[in-house]
Amino acid sequence: AQPVLILAIETSCDETSVAVVKNGSEVLSNIISSQIETHRAFGGVVPEVASRKHVEVITLVIEEALATAGVTPDQLSAVAVTQGPGLVGALLVGVVAAKSLALAWGKPLIGTHHIAGHIYANRLVAELQYPCMTLVVSGGHTELVHMEREGEFRIIGRTRDDAVGEAYDKVARALGFPYPGGPHVDRLAREATEVVPLPRVWLEPDSYDFSFSGLKSAVLNVVNQSKMKGLTPDVAGIARGFQESVVEVLVEKAIRAVKATSSKQLLLCGGVAANAGLRSALISRCEAEGIELIIPPPVYCTDNAAMIGAAAYVKWQHDGGTPLDMVADPGFSL
Ligand code: KG4
Ligand code: ZN
Repeated sequence: AQPVLILAIETSCDETSVAVVKNGSEVLSNIISSQIETHRAFGGVVPEVASRKHVEVITLVIEEALATAGVTPDQLSAVAVTQGPGLVGALLVGVVAAKSLALAWGKPLIGTHHIAGHIYANRLVAELQYPCMTLVVSGGHTELVHMEREGEFRIIGRTRDDAVGEAYDKVARALGFPYPGGPHVDRLAREATEVVPLPRVWLEPDSYDFSFSGLKSAVLNVVNQSKMKGLTPDVAGIARGFQESVVEVLVEKAIRAVKATSSKQLLLCGGVAANAGLRSALISRCEAEGIELIIPPPVYCTDNAAMIGAAAYVKWQHDGGTPLDMVADPGFSL
């Protein structure tokens, strides 16, 4: 059979990314233009700035993705794009580009869900077996998603306030580190010799939901109390305490969810999947429980278009294309 070649575009937040993916699993190119340096000065992503930056680079990134893959537009099967969720102005740039290309090249359009993308990033590195459970941990999302079969998503738990990555970034800021702070907290936690004890938030006994804002406030309290006493806060000890609290709750709920749904695999995805503490805790816990764990390499964990190409392939197989009059949807549901 002819290979399915999808050009995928992702512009939901602060990365402009375009990929060419073959049969939803083989990455021929995955170009990522990051705006992190631009946003760092503001301590977070500024939506209006993000949209403008996407406009500046999108055509160059598209050309580079095609050139790197050695693919010409006539060889493509479809054009895919992240339709939502995300920042509406940022999404719009990708959606308008994808529609224009689909129209000009006479190719079908595939509107794709950003979280489906994060989940199917795992498809780029392993054969998925259903039913499976995914722990999505990023700057915007913290979710436990169950898939009974391919293309079918059921969110069984989600954060009630901050996303994990967001909590990491806020804690890092309180400890004096620049955006994005997750990697700094991760490194400090590894270097720490003491652990500052911090609370675990479990919510109701049977709940798969998460809450991280109370933990973040507890960190702020510890920092402020030290400062009021004229002491320097134990930054590494706090980072370690914070990370241990976050990791314990994430791992415990993910394992419980796997067992409750008889899932064959546990998939990890999103930017926080790069966290060393989370990875090692999940690896040893899954080994002990006999659960198959899949973690994509960091480049497929943070925002990228290859994961959108993988998700679009699955959607294409099951539902076909998306009408050209579709719109960017910041509240797009899975
Ligand atoms: O998935 P992602 O690239 O963007 C979103 O879709 O949100 O995730 C970015 C988030 C940021 O909050 C960043 O601080 C966090 O992932 N992050 C980490 C680590 N590396 C990135 N958090 C904890 N430990 C890390 N090593
Ligand atoms: Zn993301």
